Amino acid sequence: MSGLEGARVLVTGGAGFIGSHLVDELLEHHDPAEVRVIDNLANGRIENLVRLGTDPRLRFDAADLRDGDAVERALQGVDVVMHLACLGVRHSLHDPVENHDVNAGATLTLLEAARRHEVRRFVHVSSSEVFGTAQYAPMDERHPTWPETVYGGSKLAGEAYARAAFRTHGMATVVARPFNTYGPRSHFEGDSGEVLPRTIVRALCGLPPLVYGDGEQTRDFMHVHDTARGLAALAVCDEAVGQTVNLGSGREVTINDLAAAVVAGVGRPDLVPVHLEDRPGDVRRLIVDGRYMKSLTGFETKVVFEDGVADLVGWFSSRPQTPQEMLARIEDRNWVASATSAAPGEELS
Ligand SMILES: NC(=O)c1ccc[n+]([C@@H]2O[C@H](COP(=O)([O-])OP(=O)(O)OC[C@H]3O[C@@H](n4cnc5c(N)ncnc54)[C@H](O)[C@@H]3O)[C@@H](O)[C@H]2O)c1
Repeated sequence: MSGLEGARVLVTGGAGFIGSHLVDELLEHHDPAEVRVIDNLANGRIENLVRLGTDPRLRFDAADLRDGDAVERALQGVDVVMHLACLGVRHSLHDPVENHDVNAGATLTLLEAARRHEVRRFVHVSSSEVFGTAQYAPMDERHPTWPETVYGGSKLAGEAYARAAFRTHGMATVVARPFNTYGPRSHFEGDSGEVLPRTIVRALCGLPPLVYGDGEQTRDFMHVHDTARGLAALAVCDEAVGQTVNLGSGREVTINDLAAAVVAGVGRPDLVPVHLEDRPGDVRRLIVDGRYMKSLTGFETKVVFEDGVADLVGWFSSRPQTPQEMLARIEDRNWVASATSAAPGEELS
């Protein structure tokens, strides 16, 4: 495949955080004939599709991937599928069966339908959560997969089905494994809330960062503009077909570092982090070995973490809601298996 020029691209989960930036990336830089989004808005937002209504190439169907008719409709005439729709890691703790149904089950039925429709390329967006805690670092594609949550397990199942479609049917599938992604439109709220946006919202309210455990657990944070660029690069890379590719910045950031970057970005160095108990199943280390991605596509990250955090502080400061309104939508409780369990940390807000 030489490129996406003139192609019809289906983005599942395209109203979500990463999916909506991928939509922007495709429309701005890849000249497709059409970008079609299917998203049931479980966690996505129509406002994330900033070009909807102004760019005639962008279409949106508010439908569930578990709805076979909707999937058939979405795949009509499609050349390339970018599959991002999923339910998140916290959701998997209190509703593991639905999490599996969407992340693994719907991936398999989508792959089967895409094969019938003879799509030219299928990019399955997996997650570094398939690895579990790093057994060595940096983590290359051969690192053992030992997921610690149903979410990680369901994403691993999706990977396996995408690889099977390539092995058994010669379908042109690619598995991309982004590490932690951050940036505008990231989730601070409820089940989907990520540590960086939640910490920013708290700091904007004058509240200290909440750090689970000793804060020395690490993540590989990549800005969403880089993630979207990387996913698009994989979609047009013939050598990536049948391959599994890690996608991250290659920089290891501790949660203590993150807290420091946030309080600096907000201009509140007086906010001293409060340490809570460890999260059950929390992954201790994550850092990518990005050499394979670079050798395949020439990809390099552009956004430096501290700059991206400062920008994100600006983005959250310019939301129509006040920081206090956003704070009210955060669940600052530890990971729990039931939605009704205790909520340590609430007393801080
Ligand atoms: N955010 C990260 O740091 C990160 C890291 C690694 C991998 N990923 C992967 O990237 C992808 C996108 O993640 P995100 O952070 O943008 O999450 P997100 O929740 O913002 O996006 C997922 C989208 O899928 C939609 N969705 C959920 N269930 C659906 C269903 N049954 N039918 C149709 N749509 C449905 C949601 O409404 C949402 O818009 C996911 O596959 C995720 O596993 C994300």
